[in-house]
Amino acid sequence: MVKRKTVPHNDLDSYEHNLKLAAGKYPLVLVVVDGVYSQDGDLAPLKEISVLCKKYSAKLMVDDAHGTGVIGKTGRGLIEACDAWNDVDLVTGTFSKTFGHVGGYVVASEEMVNYLKYQSKQHLFSASSTPAAMSIIKAIELIDEEPLWMDILRNNIDYFRRGLLNLGMNIGNTQSAIFPVRTGDKIKNAKICYALQQKGVYANQINYPAVSLKDARIRMGVTALHERAHLDEALNVWSDIKKQFGL
Ligand SMILES: Cc1ncc(COP(=O)(O)O)c(C=O)c1O
Repeated sequence: MVKRKTVPHNDLDSYEHNLKLAAGKYPLVLVVVDGVYSQDGDLAPLKEISVLCKKYSAKLMVDDAHGTGVIGKTGRGLIEACDAWNDVDLVTGTFSKTFGHVGGYVVASEEMVNYLKYQSKQHLFSASSTPAAMSIIKAIELIDEEPLWMDILRNNIDYFRRGLLNLGMNIGNTQSAIFPVRTGDKIKNAKICYALQQKGVYANQINYPAVSLKDARIRMGVTALHERAHLDEALNVWSDIKKQFGL
């Protein structure tokens, strides 16, 4: 039987408390964490979590869906940024973000990968990828061959973050291409997203159950293909929206 326990966001004391409680009681204790958190854009303290996992003999799994191609000197995600190459047992990610396709991947030991091939419900009896999946291979190559795109993305991220902060927006502690603007209200979310769209800016509403009711927010993503003019336009629109909705 699988027992699950969630811990408060990035609370290392809570990680330690729960790992201590679980140590020695189960055949496997697996800590599952996002590298870049999908709704806040902030990062997991991966090195510190990995130290705790080793201390209490737990395995560590990182979903770096939003980190790959964005974080780390060569785009290898939070593991590269934290130099945690030897500290993580399973890495998962998706091809639907940086790689511009669909599907996902697991990187793990040969033994673990073989186990998943036969035990993972998502894998067993599912059709193999289409030839279009070759675009993923190309995208992986491009991360190494054309690092310019990552530089552009990082410049765009810095520019947009500074712009939103200058407007006095509450964007939390994002350190990635994800920009949340908290409203705390799903009705407000709907009204603001509609108003943004009327002015040519597309943004996602993030409501319960993706986040708790009180944490409703509007989420935007910056890409390498945004030009300064796009970002300036979005910031100008946000300036109006902020006044209009009293954010
Ligand atoms: C952290 C994280 N992992 C995995 C996924 C799944 O990605 P997909 O939509 O490609 O299945 C998402 C989706 O946004 C995500 O945010």
